[in-house]
Amino acid sequence: MKKILVTGGAGYIGSHTCIELLNSGYEVVIVDDFTNSVAEPVRRVQELTGKTLSFHEVNLLDKEALDAVFKSEEKIDAVIHFAALKAVGESVEQPLMYYKNNISGSLTLFEVMRDNGVSNIVFSSSATVYGDPEVTPIQEDAAVHATNPYGHTKAMMEQILMDTSHALEWGVILLRYFNPVGAHESGQIGEDPDYPNNLLPFVSQVAAGIREHVTIFGDDYDTVDGTGVRDYIHVVDLARAHVKSIEKLTSKVNGTLIYNIGTGTGYSVKQMVETFRQVSGKEIKTIIGPRRPGDIAECTADATLANNELGWHAEYGLQEMIESAWKWQSTYPNGYRDAK
Ligand code: UFG
Repeated sequence: MKKILVTGGAGYIGSHTCIELLNSGYEVVIVDDFTNSVAEPVRRVQELTGKTLSFHEVNLLDKEALDAVFKSEEKIDAVIHFAALKAVGESVEQPLMYYKNNISGSLTLFEVMRDNGVSNIVFSSSATVYGDPEVTPIQEDAAVHATNPYGHTKAMMEQILMDTSHALEWGVILLRYFNPVGAHESGQIGEDPDYPNNLLPFVSQVAAGIREHVTIFGDDYDTVDGTGVRDYIHVVDLARAHVKSIEKLTSKVNGTLIYNIGTGTGYSVKQMVETFRQVSGKEIKTIIGPRRPGDIAECTADATLANNELGWHAEYGLQEMIESAWKWQSTYPNGYRDAK
């Protein structure tokens, strides 16, 4: 494997993965249409690594343009597919938009891969496909029953890839991410949401004085302190899991491999806020609110398979996750809008 095409490479997880790929000696071709991203991280990825990459502003639904990318780039060895819409609430309100973007966009990509003889792919899936798990930590053979349109699109894309790997002898790796947080150690690349839907970006903005308080969505769950427990994973560890997956595909995978990517350790909302307070030294006001519809009490990963088969291990703990998130937030309070 030499040249990797990364869809959604300008996004949060995509940009961190491009850094790790370039640092590991791969050539990178990004396809992104800036739906939920901007060009600045692409520039910074190159600045931080001292390497150049190839960039194409193309929407995955534009089959002709996508095909032209595959034809103009000589010999793409594998694809890492991040590009997708990912807000759970929005997906409930606008399911058709989610199915069109995520499913049709992916189908177009897979067809273009087939037409151009590219048969290796790492797919960005999510623990959301497990829905409300019966047992935690969750193993990969747990039942898949997503509970919202976003989750359904991830489960459907997994199924499409499993069927395709079987029929066309593709090598497919599905990575089910738990809760990605944190930022690159440089403080130059990080998560930059228009409006933060997830806990950590929200807490960061409260610490930075951009928002007044964090609402804790329920403190009556059956957990350590009543608040929701999640398996937070440093985005750089997550990025490295993609590099390990590409290495695995190099040794010729026939069929589909599925891996949970998490640390195996869960933290509650209150523990996250408290650690953020300590790291930032800022006051973070919290208010207890009602449960958020669709939320579950606890979700942690059993990542033994990824440890054993990918040779991947999470290296960063909670302290580093939050320190890096705070470094990014305090260096660029307005995210990439602060770019000179
Ligand atoms: N939470 C709050 N207040 C907030 C935001 C979140 O209390 O303002 C709580 C939630 O109730 C939950 C925890 O913080 O207990 C984490 O919530 P996030 O929204 O950060 O993350 P979720 O676990 O709900 O969802 C994330 C991703 C999904 C993915 C899922 C997989 O957003 O895309 O993890 O587990 F599918």
